[in-house]
Amino acid sequence: MPARTPTVIQLVGLGVTLGAVAVFSIFTLRQLDGLRRLESDSVDRSRRDSLQLIRIQNNLTQLGLALRDMAEGTEPYPITGYKPEFDRMRGDLQDALSVEAQLMPATRTPAQQEMLNNTFARFWGEVDHLWTVAAQGQTNEARALIRTRLESERSTMTTVIARLLVQNSEAEGAAVQEITAIYGRVEKNLYVLLAAVVAAISITSALVILHDRRVFAQLSRLSEERKELAGQVISVQEDVFRNLARELHDEFGQVLTAVGVMLQRVEKKLPDASKQREDIHEVREIANQTLERVRSMSQMLHPPVLDDYGLENSIEWYLRQFEKQTGFQVHYEKIGIGPWIGDTIAIHVYRILQESLNNVVRHSGTTEAWVKVAYSPASLCLEVEDHGAGLEGKPARKGLGLIGMRERAELLGGQMEFQKPAEGGTRVKLVVPLPAGGVHE
Ligand SMILES: Nc1ncnc2c1ncn2[C@@H]1O[C@H](COP(=O)(O)OP(=O)(O)OP(=O)(O)O)[C@@H](O)[C@H]1O
Ligand SMILES: [Mg+2]
Repeated sequence: MPARTPTVIQLVGLGVTLGAVAVFSIFTLRQLDGLRRLESDSVDRSRRDSLQLIRIQNNLTQLGLALRDMAEGTEPYPITGYKPEFDRMRGDLQDALSVEAQLMPATRTPAQQEMLNNTFARFWGEVDHLWTVAAQGQTNEARALIRTRLESERSTMTTVIARLLVQNSEAEGAAVQEITAIYGRVEKNLYVLLAAVVAAISITSALVILHDRRVFAQLSRLSEERKELAGQVISVQEDVFRNLARELHDEFGQVLTAVGVMLQRVEKKLPDASKQREDIHEVREIANQTLERVRSMSQMLHPPVLDDYGLENSIEWYLRQFEKQTGFQVHYEKIGIGPWIGDTIAIHVYRILQESLNNVVRHSGTTEAWVKVAYSPASLCLEVEDHGAGLEGKPARKGLGLIGMRERAELLGGQMEFQKPAEGGTRVKLVVPLPAGGVHE
């Protein structure tokens, strides 16, 4: 037998497939986790941060417009009149800056953040100074302050914010590139996994198929050998039975017949009602009985009627003998007209009938049996039935009868079934194909 069973091959194949799926799943989950982090941490955060930067930029533009109006003095009210508007914008800018500080992307350096805060602090310091100067009525100094320092600080702030916006968009671009690369890696690995799984399944299946083919080839060879062996054993057995029957009939039969004739002759020579004549008569009776027994044994071993008159007549002869010897009542039914069936088929069917009826006597616990033989041009069907104990629930005893019956049926290319009749008990059913045109072997 092959060293590896298909179970081992299948288990190895399954292990490889599951391993490949597990490795891929872990890899993919990690990649997807990275993707999620990239999307929420980098891209999302950077977009929300950019919104705050744009809000700051808007405020700075408004501040720029207000500073221009103040410097040109185009409005009819004094510089200090702008203070409420500046306070409102300062509040909004501070709010935007603190939200932005929370959202700022990882790419922002502490130095950049410090510079941003310092720039804004410087600007608001100058604005506070402006209100003081303006409140003292020094309008020209105040305007000069706006044109020089305030405008310059505002432009620095605008530049810083613009640079941060560019930095955000660059970071976003890099993240998007990385996301695309991750999708590419996952896709590539999916193909690798599919190839590995298909390869594992194909290799496993091929190995299992190869293994099965080898096992089936071995099994069919063994089965052929066993069939041949069984055929030989049965044919040797039949030869032995046939020889024994002939020996019994020819040798012992002849001798006993001769002994009987001689005793009869001696008996006739002795005076009537003498003691010797009585003894000789008794011995002759014993010799006759033994002759009968030898004949019947010889016939049971291999009935000559089987060779001379075929299966159909042998069955009828055997059933009569069986009833006589066992006291059983056998209900015999014959359906159809049987073709001549001699030798091989006949001896096997005859032996199956013998064994079935012997089993009825030994195991059924009844005294009645039903035998049915149905002939058709293509097949012969034999049924032996009893309504006794039945085969069910019997401890599996190692008898040879049932095995022998199966072997013989197989040798004939027929089928053997053990059924349970509606009335209970056992029905042995044999169906044997018959060669076209009867059997003359
Ligand atoms: N007609 C039957 N009714 C009940 N039980 C049966 C019948 N035929 C067979 N069996 C059961 O099946 C078993 C196997 O039968 P089988 O003919 O193979 O062996 P056996 O008759 O016990 O021994 P042997 O080898 O001498 O024939 C029997 O021991 C018996 O228990
Ligand atoms: Mg038996």
